[in-house]
Amino acid sequence: MKKLRLGMIGGGPGSFIGAIHRIAARMDNYYELVGGAFSSSIEKSLETGKELGLDESRIYTTFQELIVKEKQKPENEKIQVIAIVTPNHLHFEPAKMALENGFHVVLDKPMTLSLAEALALKEIQNKTRNLLCLTHTYTGYPMVKEAKQQIAAGKLGKIRKVYVEYPQGWLSTAVESKQADWRTDPSKSGIAGAMGDIGTHAFNLAEYVSGLAVQKLCADINIVVENRRLDDDGAVLLKFDNGASGVLMATQIAAGEENNVKIRVYGEKGGLEWQQVDANTLTIKWLDEPAQTFRTGGGYTSSFAQHNTRTPSGHPEGYLEAFANIYKNFAEHILAIQNQAKPKKESLDYPSIEEGIRGMAFIETVIASGKSSQKWLDLLKVEG
Ligand SMILES: NC(=O)c1ccc[n+]([C@@H]2O[C@H](COP(=O)([O-])OP(=O)(O)OC[C@H]3O[C@@H](n4cnc5c(N)ncnc54)[C@H](O)[C@@H]3O)[C@@H](O)[C@H]2O)c1
Repeated sequence: MKKLRLGMIGGGPGSFIGAIHRIAARMDNYYELVGGAFSSSIEKSLETGKELGLDESRIYTTFQELIVKEKQKPENEKIQVIAIVTPNHLHFEPAKMALENGFHVVLDKPMTLSLAEALALKEIQNKTRNLLCLTHTYTGYPMVKEAKQQIAAGKLGKIRKVYVEYPQGWLSTAVESKQADWRTDPSKSGIAGAMGDIGTHAFNLAEYVSGLAVQKLCADINIVVENRRLDDDGAVLLKFDNGASGVLMATQIAAGEENNVKIRVYGEKGGLEWQQVDANTLTIKWLDEPAQTFRTGGGYTSSFAQHNTRTPSGHPEGYLEAFANIYKNFAEHILAIQNQAKPKKESLDYPSIEEGIRGMAFIETVIASGKSSQKWLDLLKVEG
């Protein structure tokens, strides 16, 4: 099988998520990294590119140069997929340019700096028909997929309640670091801090697992650490389109917490619970029966969970594998199109531009609600 040729924008020395993307892209042998503009500094871009063993002619000074020069290469050589792993203010321009010039895009969340940019990106994608994948990591976990499938099959009955939380503690003080600096700067992060950085993950997880769309929300948004310019804590009441209610909590000042993502969803017949610290377990609690434990690798799980599982049960699959599942499904979709074949339904189960727009609508509504005395605000409804 020919691998998809991957290029990367961002992910230079000392960065966080670029290296995770590279591991994820390698895991199932679907991609080969062949070029990149890894930093705004050419020295740093060269440092990363050389470390990765890339041909120097394909280590670029800017993302514009990468796109222009790769586009000129023969079809059987040029990059096919571009991963964009820069801070939020540098998502829209490279994604726009990549889509417009014939590349598929893997983009990290939040999709853009503003909702207007997200909607503009959708228009560009509609015109170009190139694919975009958004790395909302947690939906890549097999037991999160299992949770979604159980709810979609009606096992819990009508959904009534969703609790989703993402507590972190690393911004409990005024830390300064490569990662903290841009995340607390509105010109680079956008109008939200914690709500954009991890609230969007929680929001995406709630909508993905429940299969419902948030219609309205009411937010309490806080800046806890003195002199910080963006929110570092918040709680949000949610109302879903079927009448269910929910609570979303995202905070970066919960001292001592790591990446403790957790979701609970309750229907008429029972509820389910998943958390990242025990990612291979999904618990379903029944109204009239003892609780059940579903485990990654169990032969009884849905085709969606099995498709995204690599090892026999009991061998822990984690964050890197969940990330890799997003890359794998995206590759399978692209390859199916290239081969004029019908993609498997399991391969189409990755976050995309619609989830990105929902995430940006969440950010803008949550911050507006936090500032407003009216509090309950409608979330933008985005049509196909
Ligand atoms: N999916 C997830 O779970 C997850 C986790 C962490 C971060 N993220 C997202 O990933 C993105 C990056 O976050 P991070 O923590 O890795 O940031 P980071 O600061 O660690 O890395 C950003 C990288 O982008 C590079 N860069 C900046 N300007 C550039 C330019 N003009 N051209 C090329 N490269 C440039 C920097 O040099 C750096 O290497 C953010 O949007 C963030 O929200 C997602």
